[in-house]
Amino acid sequence: MINCQNITKSYQTGETSLTVLKDISFEIKKGEFVAIIGPSGSGKSTLMHILGALDKPTAGKYFLNDKDISELSDDDLAEIRSQEIGFVFQSFNLLPRASVLRNVELPLIYDTKTLRSERLTKAENALSAVGLEKERWHHLSNQLSGGQMQRVAIARALINEPNLILADEPTGNLDSKTGDIVLETFKKLNSGKGHTIVLITHEKYVAEHADRIIEIRDGEIISDRSENHDGLKDK
Ligand SMILES: Nc1ncnc2c1ncn2[C@@H]1O[C@H](COP(=O)(O)OP(=O)(O)O)[C@@H](O)[C@H]1O
Ligand SMILES: [Mg+2]
Repeated sequence: MINCQNITKSYQTGETSLTVLKDISFEIKKGEFVAIIGPSGSGKSTLMHILGALDKPTAGKYFLNDKDISELSDDDLAEIRSQEIGFVFQSFNLLPRASVLRNVELPLIYDTKTLRSERLTKAENALSAVGLEKERWHHLSNQLSGGQMQRVAIARALINEPNLILADEPTGNLDSKTGDIVLETFKKLNSGKGHTIVLITHEKYVAEHADRIIEIRDGEIISDRSENHDGLKDK
């Protein structure tokens, strides 16, 4: 699904060039649950922007579902982002004065091909998938707890049934107990529905929820290992 080949990303500010990703190569297969871990400033968000087709590498190739992202037009990239990728961010990015259902439907509101009733059904399915209690669905999003808000944001990311979910520090604004519920939600989506999940974090205990951990430091991969969850009790 994801194939990065010798990806380098540099930012040019005035005279100076800062190389944030250095010759990064890895693959992620459909159905994997992978964490990318590294300290602040190591290049995680930069990498996520490339994986999410929000930005292009300075050098190297990125193939998403066998398509060479560097050769696509902005319109094609926008189409891929909306159809194939669901994004989840640290700050949930919900519309505070809109209902939960409305927030989840939002990516489809300008999609003239989708009927209103179909939109609603999809939103309800997505909210069921993240386990948000039905009685919350008509609440305004700003009436929810942080953990509930993040589950609404995950439901919104699921609305087009994307193959790939990219989550950048999704538990960063949550206490550890609420964070666990959100991580459990990702785990269920991965094992139950087969969504491929890439979870970006700087926290080891968050990364340990994944089946594979790619560690980056100063823009380079320093380890890539599969986690052995045997013996760990599933909470
Ligand atoms: N648009 C940009 N222009 C210049 N420098 C940037 C830009 N985005 C990120 N950087 C720099 O790239 C480095 C990595 O940033 P980032 O990918 O956000 O790291 P992380 O998500 O791991 O904290 C940092 O030094 C940051 O200042
Ligand atoms: Mg970041």
